[in-house]
Amino acid sequence: MSMHFWDASWDLNLDLCPCDLHFMEWIKAEKIRGKVIYHFGTGSHHLVGVENLKMGEPNYFIGVTASPGETEAFTRMAIEEPRLSRNYTMHFGDIYLFNGKLLPKFDIATMFHLGEFWSEKTASYGGATDEEVLRRVIRQMKKNGRIVFYEGSDGWSRTKPIVAKLAKEGLLTKTDKHQKLTIYTVSR
Ligand SMILES: C[S@@+](CC[C@H](N)C(=O)[O-])C[C@H]1O[C@@H](n2cnc3c(N)ncnc32)[C@H](O)[C@@H]1O
Repeated sequence: MSMHFWDASWDLNLDLCPCDLHFMEWIKAEKIRGKVIYHFGTGSHHLVGVENLKMGEPNYFIGVTASPGETEAFTRMAIEEPRLSRNYTMHFGDIYLFNGKLLPKFDIATMFHLGEFWSEKTASYGGATDEEVLRRVIRQMKKNGRIVFYEGSDGWSRTKPIVAKLAKEGLLTKTDKHQKLTIYTVSR
């Protein structure tokens, strides 16, 4: 049995998927600083790390990718620009195996691609469901932490009812919007 990894590498395509850029616009507009941010789905461009560096490194990012190509791209970029990995790092792994014991508590998490990648193969090695991943990420949030979703995602039709269910349970409250990003604050 092998991992359901992402056998592709996603280059920046702002027409199809502007979520990372819009997220960094929101960070800038809201003057967010000093926050630990978990980013699901880095792309080979690692835009959030590059923009964080350009902005003077106000925040601390940990990305996750299931793509060997995107992992290799990060290695190359970090060698060419060593300052990139000071406040931006990433790990290769499957979000469906999310384990909070391996990571710090987050102030902000992006769940832009929730609902896009679960498969029967994921389940075959004990991978969680999309709902369980979101519950684990919620448990990983600091007080008043914020989780950001992307309504333009292919997975949004699957994610939307999960978010509504967890909001009904009182775990999440919608508190902000930027472009097609919706921002929920964790209530606990
Ligand atoms: C369509 S790309 C989008 C990348 C970037 N956010 C953007 O908008 O340009 C989807 C991302 O999800 C990541 N991904 C796919 N399956 C994953 C999984 N099971 N666990 C973690 N990341 C995964 C891919 O590696 C890729 O970085």
